[in-house]
Amino acid sequence: MSTLEIKDLHVTVATEDGPKEILKGVTLTIGDGETHAIMGPNGSGKSTLAYSIAGHPKYTVTGGTVLLDGEDVLAMSVDERARAGLFLAMQYPVEVPGVSVSNFLRTAKTAVDGEAPKLRTWVKDVNGALERMNLDTTFSQRSVNEGFSGGEKKRHEIAQLELLDPKVAILDETDSGLDIDALKVVSDGVNRFREQEGKGVLLITHYTRILRYIQPDKVHVFVNGRVAEQGGPELAEQLEAEGYDKYVKASV
Ligand SMILES: Nc1ncnc2c1ncn2[C@@H]1O[C@H](COP(=O)(O)OP(=O)(O)OP(=O)(O)O)[C@@H](O)[C@H]1O
Ligand SMILES: [Mg+2]
Repeated sequence: MSTLEIKDLHVTVATEDGPKEILKGVTLTIGDGETHAIMGPNGSGKSTLAYSIAGHPKYTVTGGTVLLDGEDVLAMSVDERARAGLFLAMQYPVEVPGVSVSNFLRTAKTAVDGEAPKLRTWVKDVNGALERMNLDTTFSQRSVNEGFSGGEKKRHEIAQLELLDPKVAILDETDSGLDIDALKVVSDGVNRFREQEGKGVLLITHYTRILRYIQPDKVHVFVNGRVAEQGGPELAEQLEAEGYDKYVKASV
């Protein structure tokens, strides 16, 4: 089972002028096995939501709750959140010079599972995951994200998703900067993940294109730190046609 329940979440960041509220009461529930898309203008707080759920120290939760299968996510350390089954693919994946993809993946897998993966099958699994993402197996010996192209970084995130096999995946603009073939490869990867029993996906995106490959159960319009509207896949098409204007005006 995997249900992610976000209730009235308030989050601030520290600025020179004191704390600034970015999330102003976010409520949304990803039911067991559901895929939800979040769309919204630049700066509305989508990445803040993703980071806050994952436990990034830059963000201070000042109110609300986040539950994964009833467990209090906000009380968990970052490691515990990953072990509980949360996965975040960042909008801007960070470079980790000196740490090979192979070592990174093995360390992450060991941390998430609580035991090291079996060496015999692991190398095969890693190579398989890279190949399915159209990444050459030589990538496993390169430093994490160092010198990777934008699209290679995103594809590496989905290889991680496959190998770590979380309960709920939060994908922050994983489709941005992908060429047409790579978008298909990434979508196929996400679809393989969600075809498994009970996997949840929170897909943050600016484009309806990916939603034609990855059909969401629900679409949320995110404006000014809140969910301004919810609907089905047709809402994404409506946004594409009309933009965010009416939601932005209503929010101020
Ligand atoms: N240290 C900070 N000081 C002031 N404002 C900040 C700080 N950190 C983040 N913010 C603001 O928080 C807001 C939300 O940022 P966030 O990255 O969550 O937006 P987003 O919805 O993901 O946008 P995009 O679509 O461009 O990725 C932005 O307006 C950003 O400038
Ligand atoms: Mg963002």
